Amino acid sequence: MSTSYQAVGWNRQKKIYDWLIFGFCMMYLSIFCGLTLVFNPQITFETLLIRSSSTLAVLLLHIILSIGPLCRINKKFLPLLYNRRHLGVTMFCVALVHGVFGIIQFHTLGNTGPLVSLFTSNTRYDSLADFPFQAMGFFALLIFFLMAITSHDFWLHNLSPGVWKTLHMFVYLAYVLIIMHVMLGVIQYETNPVFVLILLIGAITLISLHLYAGSREVKKDHIAFGLQKNGFVKVCSVNDIENNRAKMFCVDKERIAVFKTEGKLFAVNNVCKHQNGPLGEGKIVDGCITCPWHGYQYLPNSGQSPPPFKEKVSTYDLRMEGTDVWLNPTPYAEGTERPGVIY
Ligand code: HEM
Ligand code: FES
Repeated sequence: MSTSYQAVGWNRQKKIYDWLIFGFCMMYLSIFCGLTLVFNPQITFETLLIRSSSTLAVLLLHIILSIGPLCRINKKFLPLLYNRRHLGVTMFCVALVHGVFGIIQFHTLGNTGPLVSLFTSNTRYDSLADFPFQAMGFFALLIFFLMAITSHDFWLHNLSPGVWKTLHMFVYLAYVLIIMHVMLGVIQYETNPVFVLILLIGAITLISLHLYAGSREVKKDHIAFGLQKNGFVKVCSVNDIENNRAKMFCVDKERIAVFKTEGKLFAVNNVCKHQNGPLGEGKIVDGCITCPWHGYQYLPNSGQSPPPFKEKVSTYDLRMEGTDVWLNPTPYAEGTERPGVIY
């Protein structure tokens, strides 16, 4: 949270996460290199390095882009989301190995400098079969670099969450550039078409996951609440909400989370101030609403982060009629204390 900038604390959870990433990468590289050496024993060390790192980077990119929709579909995937940035930085480092060795292998023997050669050795932008595919890899790598160096919360606070999020949305442009880089590269180098096949399966899986998770979100946002009285709408029965958990409702385009804790219900805006995480998918920990993405906390009655933190979200009024919960979607100013409602 943001009272002041603090250095990263490498807690136990982060260490386990990082060891798992390291173990996964090592396992992948061993299997890839082992199989390649069995089926293509003449391969040079440089080519093995270029191909093992490129395919690992692409695999990590698919995992990174799948985590968001998977978490929306099933909360069991949430632990993967907490330190997704570590996966992103790892992917950039692996892709950098591929990019640097690609440049060394293909662009250091001529008269021009390696970077100049990357852009001038092939200028067939008019031909699909000879397209300078390496330039697309370069621009994708540049996007990953910008994302990796701004991944820390220090930059999130200095750039503002909006700018930071926009910058990180460029990952989808980078993904398209990578698809084209590989497709056009394989056409030219006639490397194993298995790469293209795997990439196509990956892209189709990724698009399907995003579409499925997105359609579930859209459905939630378009539930029509029939009953309205004095600005309140009937949203659910109190029994529909688990204790110390919430249900999210989208009323008049406001996403509102109604939490149930210690015999009372409280309503706060669903959008976390850190990176727009869905507070309604979090739970109450130590008396505080805890964001499921990176653990920012808010007091249920005021929407304020507990001192010394300063984030605040809007609060809303609730009413009970029997077991029915009624919600007024007009927001109070962020951090305004509301008494909640006894059920
Ligand atoms: C400066 C940036 C880059 C350069 C110069 C570059 C260069 C190359 C070259 C020369 C090849 C063909 C290698 C061969 O078939 O032997 C290739 C293929 C490939 N590249 Fe890149 N690349 C760059 C960035 C990236 C990035 C950022 C990714 C993914 C995150 C990537 C993923 C791949 C993949 C999956 C292949 C096909 C498998 C392979 O042949 O290695 N590349 N790249
Ligand atoms: S989005 Fe990061 S803690 Fe909520």
